[in-house]
Amino acid sequence: MCGVVGYVGKGYCRNYILEGLGRLEYRGYDSSGFACIDPQTKRLAYHRAEGQLINLIHKLEGLPIDGHIGIGHTRWATHGGISEKNAHPQFDCTESIAVVHNGIIENHHHLKTELLAKNHIFLSDTDTEVVAHVCEQFFKESSSINEAILSITQKLSGAYAFVAMFQNQSDQLIAVRKGSPLCIGIGKEQMFVASDPLAFAGFTDTVLFLPDESYALVNESNIQLFDFKGKKIEPTLTTLDIQWSNDGKNGFKHYMLKEIYEQKSGIQATLSHLRSNEKDIWGQLGLTNEYVQNLKVLSIVAAGTSWHAGRIAQFFFEKLCLLPTHVMLASEFRYMPYFAQQNNLSIFISQSGETVDTLECLYLTKSMKAPSLALTNVATSALAREAGGALITHAGREIAVASTKAFSTQLTALFWFAHKMALEKRLISYRQMEHACDDLLIAAEVLENSIEKYFTKISKELAPFYAQFKRFIFLGRNISYPFAMEAALKLKEISYIFSQCYPAGELKHGPIALLDKETPVILFSNLDEQIYQKVLSNAQEVKARGAHLLTFVFEGQEELASLADHTFIIPRVNPLLGPLAMTGLMQFFVYEIADVLGCPIDKPRNLAKSVTVE
Ligand code: G6P
Repeated sequence: MCGVVGYVGKGYCRNYILEGLGRLEYRGYDSSGFACIDPQTKRLAYHRAEGQLINLIHKLEGLPIDGHIGIGHTRWATHGGISEKNAHPQFDCTESIAVVHNGIIENHHHLKTELLAKNHIFLSDTDTEVVAHVCEQFFKESSSINEAILSITQKLSGAYAFVAMFQNQSDQLIAVRKGSPLCIGIGKEQMFVASDPLAFAGFTDTVLFLPDESYALVNESNIQLFDFKGKKIEPTLTTLDIQWSNDGKNGFKHYMLKEIYEQKSGIQATLSHLRSNEKDIWGQLGLTNEYVQNLKVLSIVAAGTSWHAGRIAQFFFEKLCLLPTHVMLASEFRYMPYFAQQNNLSIFISQSGETVDTLECLYLTKSMKAPSLALTNVATSALAREAGGALITHAGREIAVASTKAFSTQLTALFWFAHKMALEKRLISYRQMEHACDDLLIAAEVLENSIEKYFTKISKELAPFYAQFKRFIFLGRNISYPFAMEAALKLKEISYIFSQCYPAGELKHGPIALLDKETPVILFSNLDEQIYQKVLSNAQEVKARGAHLLTFVFEGQEELASLADHTFIIPRVNPLLGPLAMTGLMQFFVYEIADVLGCPIDKPRNLAKSVTVE
């Protein structure tokens, strides 16, 4: 999703900005742009390009476009198609105000009509261009910068983070945040503005995360921060501990494959961090022992793969803590009636910690004065900062758009956390808690070893075979159902093959009509004996219709294995960790299919890593 980078300082901005944009590439984008103020002519100069950042870099090569103040952007199209004219920066009528923006201006259509009536000229189809013209209008009409910005923020609706640069003010950037993330890196005689601190990690480790609904006037040595009422705010500075290490793919063909193989160590690291913070965990999370003991209901809110992790964790919390657990999609939860409940805890799961839907649900929950917890892989993210407490996964930065190691480390943290809660509620013993940690480490081993066991068979035989099909049905039951949903999502994301998932028990209520030779069924087994018997019947229903069947089974489940055309046999683990144990093999299998098809696996079309717009 859109990346915003800005620089003002003693140094030259172009390299800093292009470097920052490069680091934000993984978020997904389809065009990019750069603008600066030429120190000699004092004029604004810019270039924009469709496609990869390298296209912009080539355009700039050999051109003396650089300066001490500049802004850059990677755009993920929302309003207006992918084209150079729609890339950012966007400008006002006289091209003396440049704006880069992340978010959506919801009333852009109405504003554009108003501005057209005042003879503004528009050259793009974007909502961002409207911001540049609104700036032009209010800076003309207002007697001070603050007055102008306050009028602008009153005029714009939606969620946005934008940075504006003015030709007639070549020493100052304006950074405005409502909803979408924005932060400022404070260096020595230089300042960086970005949507993600990764853009400037290594150049400075002192950062100001703009509070929601605030704006900053930023020059090379000073930041003035105000809220949307014009009141000055004292900036709260944070020290970053992220490093920018461009260790690349480390010999792997794609980041996704590298990240699939990083899961075992990610699980180990996540568990070890959780265990080292075990003492006074409730205090650290903004809770008390009594509150946890008296908890009556849990809510989990997330999007995409994180939502699947939440759906799997529902089984952890209900089985171990005897807590009714509601798992909701953030995009739906936001617009549903909110029922305040006593003794409730809401957990917000997000790899990036910046997904706008999930964040908005957190804000809604906070506004109801209900306790909240974030589970995220990014300790500096808005979700971690805004929630009452944060559990951090230690997957390491995930670059591939399709989430892999974030998912398995989320399951790890949630499994551990459910045990910790069950222990606090005196539903399990300390010994059982210790066993749970061992079980996680065993599942991590199985996750990796299973890939190794089937590596050659998948890459040489199965992936080329399954890559021929145009659609797939995924089935699972009980805890394997949300896992099957995750598998279907992975396949569709990276291979563009139509994949639909159903609870296996629902097959006969409709989806069975889809079964034919052209539609393979991928079925995930379950370690619960009773559920296994049901899964077995579902597999028989599939075979009786002559459909092709691939199964993921556990050792000892020979009957199910023998029904299938192809099967993967996985060592037995703690039944609640069946999905985690199958994760590596499932991801590797779909990865290989996408690779056979030659898909751009790390950056699938239309997708973004961090979805910061609704
Ligand atoms: C996007 C990504 C998915 C991710 C989802 C939620 O759709 O492409 O991989 O699962 O956002 O992201 P989050 O960072 O909140 O977990």
